[in-house]
Amino acid sequence: MCGIVGYAGARPALGVVINGLRRLEYRGYDSAGIAVVDGGLLMEKRAGKLASLEKALAERLAEASANPRPAAGNIASGSTGIGHTRWATHGGPTDRNAHPHRSADGRIAVIHNGIIENFAKLRSDLEGRGVTFLSDTDTECVAHLISAELANVDVESPESPVGARLGEAMRRVCLRLEGAFTLLAVDADAPGVVVGARRNSPLVVGRGRDENFLASDVSAFIEYTREATELGQDQVVTITDDGVTIMDFLGNPADGKEFHIDWDSNAAEKGGYDYFMLKEIAEQPRAIADTLLGRLTETGEVMLDEVRLSDQDLRDVDKIFVVACGTAYHSGLVAKYAIEHWTRIPCEVELASEFRYRDPVLDRSTLVVAISQSGETMDTLMALRHAKEQKARVLAICNTSGSTIPRESDAVLYTRGGPEIAVASTKAFLTQLVACYLVGLHLAQVRGIKYADEVGAVVAQLQEMSGKVDQVLDLMEPVRRLARELADAKSVLFIGRHVGYPVALEGALKLKELAYMHAEGFAAGELKHGPIALIDQGTPVVCVVPSPRGRGVLRDKIISNIQEVRARGARTVVIAEDGDEDVRSYADHLIAVPVTPTLLAPLVTTVPLQVLAAEIATARGHDVDQPRNLAKSVTVE
Ligand code: G6P
Repeated sequence: MCGIVGYAGARPALGVVINGLRRLEYRGYDSAGIAVVDGGLLMEKRAGKLASLEKALAERLAEASANPRPAAGNIASGSTGIGHTRWATHGGPTDRNAHPHRSADGRIAVIHNGIIENFAKLRSDLEGRGVTFLSDTDTECVAHLISAELANVDVESPESPVGARLGEAMRRVCLRLEGAFTLLAVDADAPGVVVGARRNSPLVVGRGRDENFLASDVSAFIEYTREATELGQDQVVTITDDGVTIMDFLGNPADGKEFHIDWDSNAAEKGGYDYFMLKEIAEQPRAIADTLLGRLTETGEVMLDEVRLSDQDLRDVDKIFVVACGTAYHSGLVAKYAIEHWTRIPCEVELASEFRYRDPVLDRSTLVVAISQSGETMDTLMALRHAKEQKARVLAICNTSGSTIPRESDAVLYTRGGPEIAVASTKAFLTQLVACYLVGLHLAQVRGIKYADEVGAVVAQLQEMSGKVDQVLDLMEPVRRLARELADAKSVLFIGRHVGYPVALEGALKLKELAYMHAEGFAAGELKHGPIALIDQGTPVVCVVPSPRGRGVLRDKIISNIQEVRARGARTVVIAEDGDEDVRSYADHLIAVPVTPTLLAPLVTTVPLQVLAAEIATARGHDVDQPRNLAKSVTVE
């Protein structure tokens, strides 16, 4: 939530920062702004999407070239800059609330992601000292505080005395802030220096040759460098073109953890698709295959990526909680079926935002599985920290190296989906499912419930799923046509049983997110206990039907449920296994998916629902990649 970019190097900062913001816009798109140091502080900021800022910049540059004024700095040529794309918290999405915010003396510009919880007190203190605020944000007080603190700082550093002063002022200000924040600041009097700080919110360093970068995540700078440094909690970082200096909030020198980014830089481009989401849906077969790649050792054991737990710790686990938000939560709901089935350990799935507030019973034999694409979702992070305080073990399933959730976990399994830019999650979901299956198999194996050959057999089935998802994608034209027919529906219901139930929830979530339609997912058996009252003549009901070969009884039950809704006028869209001819007579629209083992079926049944939602949204004229009010990475509670 909120995208942040900083640059110090030799290139014009404007282009680097705008490119970075384009890649981070999925984090928030209420407003955008930039500050460049070039003979002073040059800023431009606008409400609305990045395109509004780009238009304002183009006008400014056109005007500057028509009326050149020799002495003034040039926003197009300064090589130190910061930029921000916002998801509004304090203060509406207006030009004046857009970041950066400037100190009253015009010297310091600050951008921020997070919430400064004690800002009201800080603001009234500053106002008491005569500072006039120009915005309603919590961020602006940081600019004023840094500017005031600079007067008290006296730091000598042979390389960069001014930069060291800015870093020290930032450090002292951070000690006065409560809440979650990533902050970047530039000083008009310190060209060549960008200072950053983080507590709870994300910030990574990109290390280039004669240039360095700061950003909310690596996608902002992968076209320039693949070498990155992960910052720890409560650290201040100062970058110049040739240096990266890190200290903690107490002023002690600190080290970050260096890592190499193996994402392809083209992965953050649309690659010929109209939307990132369509590209990401199409990438799912590869993402599944990559997530499975090399997971089995020569002796057939499933490998995690980072393990700071012993096998004995895992053998001692007597209860599992899966915690996550949004789509990741739905992957957790599927995980429960697989984990309990394969390990026989009780597994509960909980929304991360609820988890810690109900005082769950946790101890060192509890395993908490935290699932997060971004690795930064604040609710999930806080649930994880609560679990660790209670001595539970935490295993993260995450897509983003260098992010906070894997860093704070005892074990990590990375999904290898590559950057997911569209706000609505697609390939992250399928790769999370794969990772959940692998975690279930690993636990079963460590505990001696499954032998290597049994694990190998399931992994072989998983490996076939990539091709099956490809087959589903090849058959999506009828789904696109159906989407156009359903675009005017008032409401769409989704029903499923067993692992089809989380698929129904995910299908409904996609439609809400993208098409802004009323959509709800139900456990099919629950329908008759209330929701069936929603069914009216022509109400579309999407029914996820399990395989007739697996749990036949489940399929028969859902067929009864389909008949119940049809009897009340519903228009049924049935997703069923290829060759299941019996369901045809209950389906106004039949979407066939390849034959698949029951537990793995969500990998194929979810895909048509993703396509359906994207196409309905397109038919309704919505922005598929950036739905209103949403942000991809939600770093506030
Ligand atoms: C946001 C996104 C969702 C995502 C959820 C959890 O709400 O819009 O698409 O599923 O956060 O994100 P995470 O990064 O933790 O998987």
